[in-house]
Amino acid sequence: MRVSLEKASKLLCSGQVVAVPTETVYGLAAALDQPQAIHNVFKLKQRPQNNPLIIHVSNINALQSYTSHFPTGFIELAEAFWPGPLTIVLPIDETKIPLQVRAGLPTAAFRIPNCPLTLSLLEQTGPLVMPSANLSGKPSATQPQHIERDFGENFPVLDGGNCRYGLESTIIIFQNERWQIIRLGSIASENFLDILGYVPHIANKVSDKPLCPGQMYRHYAPKAKLVLSQNFSGIVIGFADRSYPQATKVFLLGSTISPENVAENLYAILRQLDDENIATAVVDMNFPKTGLWVTIRERLEKAASGRK
Ligand code: TXA
Ligand code: MG
Repeated sequence: MRVSLEKASKLLCSGQVVAVPTETVYGLAAALDQPQAIHNVFKLKQRPQNNPLIIHVSNINALQSYTSHFPTGFIELAEAFWPGPLTIVLPIDETKIPLQVRAGLPTAAFRIPNCPLTLSLLEQTGPLVMPSANLSGKPSATQPQHIERDFGENFPVLDGGNCRYGLESTIIIFQNERWQIIRLGSIASENFLDILGYVPHIANKVSDKPLCPGQMYRHYAPKAKLVLSQNFSGIVIGFADRSYPQATKVFLLGSTISPENVAENLYAILRQLDDENIATAVVDMNFPKTGLWVTIRERLEKAASGRK
């Protein structure tokens, strides 16, 4: 059910959960000061309790009261990328953020999204926690109808149209005197060079301890089996500027000259496979290994390996 900004704000302030657009993917929002709503977000998504949430705020002042200090380079990152698809993990004042939100960690993840509608909402509601608005393990929602499909026609959605980026935010943390990327996302690692003076390392684990708890779980996976192969026959997920003569049907990700466009379409196509009850699809993985393509590759590899 599509709701207005005023209605979304009222629902959130009275402890309801609302799906909210961002420039990356839709979020399942609860107000930071509504523990029951936060509990319901975990329940609705079937999300493990040890997977913390991102706190979304409308400006830097709004997060200052939660953090203990700003690591070197934080202000430069915030000025360069906020509002935008960067999530920054910061050390916090542990008395200010419920354990449930940060899964017991001494840090919390923050983001100022670049979506005017949601920035207006955040001004009215205050900080909102928002995981991606999908069932845990499934592709994220990038269109309002994806939410209605997952959570039912009556679920309240603030309609912001289709998400501009289509891939989640990049998550970064300051560890051992360097910023490290702990989840690939809409900002490519190369884009940090000008701001930090180095390209951050892409880290999954520090001595077996996951830096980003969500990365432990299966992700982005449709029911359909994805095969990463060179043999493009049957159902193919491929590119508009290539031909697949052996294919019986081709789902087009976009063209190989625009990773931005491919990112925007990716989850909608993975969801479409399930809508059309497709059992197996072959994915064309012949694309570059730089920039945003690195995130696209990672998402497809996870989607392919994630099938249970
Ligand atoms: O683009 C996005 O980031 C979207 C939109 C709605 O903002 N949100 C999103 O949230 O992708 P979610 O919950 O699906 O993914 C958040 C990730 C999880 O993998 C979680 O483990 C990680 O952020 N995370 C949250 N707090 C953390 C922390 N304190 N330290 C390390 N990782 C954290
Ligand atoms: Mg998610």
